[in-house]
Amino acid sequence: MSAEASENRDLGYPIFVAPSVRAPLRNFVAQSADRFVVLCDANVVPYARQLTRGLKGRLALIPVKLGERRKRLSTVEEVLRALLHSGADRQTLVVGVGGGVAADLFGFAASIYMRGVPYAHVATSLVAMVDAAIGGKTGVDLPEGKNLAGTFANPVAVFAHIDALATLPYRNLREGLAEMVKHAVIEGGDLFESLEQLAPHAFWRWPWENVVADSLKVKTMIVADDRLEHGARELLNLGHTFGHALERASGYRVSHGAGVSIGLRAAGLLALRTGRFSRDEHLRVLTLLTLLKLPVCTRRSLAAIFSAMQADKKKRAGRLRFVLPRAIGDVEYGVEASDAAAKAVLKRIAELPGGAEFR
Ligand SMILES: NC(=O)c1ccc[n+]([C@@H]2O[C@H](COP(=O)([O-])OP(=O)(O)OC[C@H]3O[C@@H](n4cnc5c(N)ncnc54)[C@H](O)[C@@H]3O)[C@@H](O)[C@H]2O)c1
Ligand SMILES: [Zn+2]
Repeated sequence: MSAEASENRDLGYPIFVAPSVRAPLRNFVAQSADRFVVLCDANVVPYARQLTRGLKGRLALIPVKLGERRKRLSTVEEVLRALLHSGADRQTLVVGVGGGVAADLFGFAASIYMRGVPYAHVATSLVAMVDAAIGGKTGVDLPEGKNLAGTFANPVAVFAHIDALATLPYRNLREGLAEMVKHAVIEGGDLFESLEQLAPHAFWRWPWENVVADSLKVKTMIVADDRLEHGARELLNLGHTFGHALERASGYRVSHGAGVSIGLRAAGLLALRTGRFSRDEHLRVLTLLTLLKLPVCTRRSLAAIFSAMQADKKKRAGRLRFVLPRAIGDVEYGVEASDAAAKAVLKRIAELPGGAEFR
């Protein structure tokens, strides 16, 4: 069964969402390049093969062992050399297939190969579909920290291959759900309500094609507003100030999605404390996170999380700024809060919700 792909052009490059993106991908490649190379995460080779088999001009299909630990410069060098050996030149289209690590690393490699070749990404993970593949930030980690080397380089097209979600491990699906809740709090309205309605149902029953298309629209609209991150793009950091601190304080044992989920609750609590947000709406967000089985509290040391936040503050010229909801669908950025308020919130996220929060 192949429904027609929906197409989003807010960013000036097309983003196709379909159960199978085989047809739109093949049309796009046929129209835009004589030759192309497929780079794929070694875990999704069957998708890469099935999507590009028999398509004219394929120089090579190159599986690359990825994973967060391989998101580093040495892997980029391997990829660049593989591109060279495949015969790719400046006119060759590079098609990357995989999750967020693939989007970041292959996108980066394409942006520097021979000073930059066109890059299209086929997203196979939920994080890649609603977040990583969109917005043109590429890059890799350095031993000192995440995403420290990279480029701003827009892809020429993005394809969300919804059928691939069927094989995505559940823990990776949850990483994407946390960002989807973030998008829903930013956007509010139907997007938030549809997640509330879907949350109690088994994932296989979700209309993923619509869910992904609606969620990624939030990111495309914000990025389109603010391509180089001077203002509105900050909104996408909702839940991330607390989340990043928690991730770092745990030595990255707490995943990014878990950090964002707990961070969304923390942002709600801080907004409540500073009189911005209503208790009812805070509880709606908390209930949604809980129904999706996303974490909302942590047993990590509060002192460690607080000092990770202080390190962040030093980097940002002594000020810690938060992105906080005023309402579901109305989020503001650049809000300063006192250390005492941040500490009080951290204390709350060390407790199970319940008690006062749910009364
Ligand atoms: N550039 C950006 O704007 C941006 C935004 C968000 C996240 N990111 C980056 O994205 C990365 C996280 O992305 P992720 O969660 O997709 O991680 P990932 O790419 O490592 O994918 C998660 C795991 O699932 C596997 N996988 C992917 N698709 C699959 C499928 N359909 N079936 C079975 N297995 C599949 C992968 O091989 C991997 O083991 C991080 O490195 C993060 O920094 C970047
Ligand atoms: Zn994030």
